[in-house]
Amino acid sequence: MPRDYFGEHVAARYDETSADMFEAAEVEPVVNFLAELATDGSALELGIGTGRIALPLSQRGIRVHGIDLSEAMVARLQAKPGAEQIGVTVGDFATTTVEGRFSVAYLVFNTIMNLTTQDEQVACFHNVASHLQPGGCFVVEVSIPDLQRLPPGETVRPFTVSATRLGFDEYDVAAQGLISHHYWIDDGKLETVSMPFRYVWPAELDLMARLAGMSLRERWSDWKREPFTSDSREHVSVWEKTTPQAMK
Ligand SMILES: C[S@@+](CC[C@H](N)C(=O)[O-])C[C@H]1O[C@@H](n2cnc3c(N)ncnc32)[C@H](O)[C@@H]1O
Repeated sequence: MPRDYFGEHVAARYDETSADMFEAAEVEPVVNFLAELATDGSALELGIGTGRIALPLSQRGIRVHGIDLSEAMVARLQAKPGAEQIGVTVGDFATTTVEGRFSVAYLVFNTIMNLTTQDEQVACFHNVASHLQPGGCFVVEVSIPDLQRLPPGETVRPFTVSATRLGFDEYDVAAQGLISHHYWIDDGKLETVSMPFRYVWPAELDLMARLAGMSLRERWSDWKREPFTSDSREHVSVWEKTTPQAMK
């Protein structure tokens, strides 16, 4: 089982520190996008967390099931109204299986990068394919690696700088990895969290999808379907399950 980086320390403040991501302007386009793809009314969320997307999607009448490694994050979800409609399995979303087949599976907010090896990311695509109905879709929202903004010889990029919070990504280009270092002040005390990621390019994700019997159906730069271009900082990609027999 991978290490849980979303224990009590992070889960207790997750909704507050990600407050901008819980705004209706952020959530509604995601829910609209996913609801359209949930053609038979079922959805599987990998890394369901505290239910930022799962709860409003479930409130649209969609049967949502989630997988998450963190019991602390799941406990926050389960304390919210409406959570009783959502099934949750605690486990690693690269390998954990759940009952049923879904018309859409989704992995948002850069969470594919929480799998820190290529093998785990490939396994995740296979696992998703095995949970999709034929013609079902896998949706991933993830940043484009920020390497164009990393000056030659440098390894660190700031992603948040404010009076109360600092965040830096430390890149290991040879290993295609990065560590996000977070620092914030809580009750006058300095708190820190450092979390490892494996960044991944769109073309590599397309190949992982192909290995799992899926092919690219759509790629946008955001949930409102703005075109994906050379300047896009993130992408929302949709792969469709096309082949019943996936290659390992
Ligand atoms: C950035 S949070 C996103 C939560 C939620 N999807 C959202 O959009 O607010 C990432 C979540 O993925 C979970 N996670 C990370 N790696 C995981 C893994 N390998 N298996 C299952 N859950 C994982 C974490 O515990 C955390 O709840």
